[in-house]
Amino acid sequence: MVRFRQEQGADIAARDALLDAALGPFRRLKTSERLREGRLPAAGLSFIASAERRLVGTVRLWSITAGPARPALLLGPLAVDAGMRQAGIGTALVTLTIARALRLGHRAILLVGAPDYFGRFGFSSAQTGALRLPGPSDPARLLALELVSGALDGASGLIAATGRLAPAEIGRRRSTTMPDLRRSRA
Ligand SMILES: CC(C)(COP(=O)(O)OP(=O)(O)OC[C@H]1O[C@@H](n2cnc3c(N)ncnc32)[C@H](O)[C@@H]1OP(=O)(O)O)[C@@H](O)C(=O)NCCC(=O)NCCS
Repeated sequence: MVRFRQEQGADIAARDALLDAALGPFRRLKTSERLREGRLPAAGLSFIASAERRLVGTVRLWSITAGPARPALLLGPLAVDAGMRQAGIGTALVTLTIARALRLGHRAILLVGAPDYFGRFGFSSAQTGALRLPGPSDPARLLALELVSGALDGASGLIAATGRLAPAEIGRRRSTTMPDLRRSRA
C-alpha cells in the first residue's frame, strides 16, 4: 500500500538517492535548481510517497517571485521510483501539493516540465511567455497554474528565489562577506 505524508529529516538520504536514480547525476545543473540551491522548501509543502516503508516518490514546492513582487511557488523535482510508475503516485503527489498550497493561501505554482504530463493538472505555458528563468530553458516547458484567478495576469520578468536560506547557506554567506580582521588591523 502506498502512503503519502509530509517529508521529514530522516527521508533526505532516500530522497536524494531516488532523485539521482530518476533524474541522473547532472540534475543539479538544471536551471530550475538555481531557484532551489541554498534555500529551504516552502513550509509544509514537501511530500513523499512510501511503500513498505521505502520512499518511492517525492515532490517539493519552493518560494519564488514570478517577476517583481509576484509571490508564487515552484514545483519540483517530482520523481517516482522507476519500479512504481504508471500507478498514479505522481498524480497523487501533484494533486496533494496543489490542494495544500491552495489551503495555505498561495496564489500560483510554476514549474519546468513536460506539458503532456502537467497539462492534466491545469498547468500550461499560456501565462509564462513574458517570464524568464535565471538560465537557459525551453519556454515551452515553463508552465504555470493559477490557484487564484488573475494571479499571473501581466506576469513578466525574472523568476527569482525568495525562500528562506538553508542554515549551511547562511554560514557560507557569512564567511564570504566577513571582513578579514587580521588584514584590517594591520
Ligand atoms: C513523471 C513521473 C513523476 C510520473 O510519475 P508516475 O507515478 O508514473 O505518474 P502517474 O502514474 O501519476 O501518471 C502516469 C501517466 O503520466 C504519463 N507520463 C509520465 N511521464 C511523462 C512525461 N515525461 N511526459 C508525458 N507524460 C508522461 C504516463 O505516460 C502516464 O500516462 P497515462 O495516464 O495516459 O497512462 C515519473 O515518470 C518520473 O519520476 N519520471 C522521472 C523524473 C521526471 O521526469 N520528473 C518530472 C520532472 S520534474
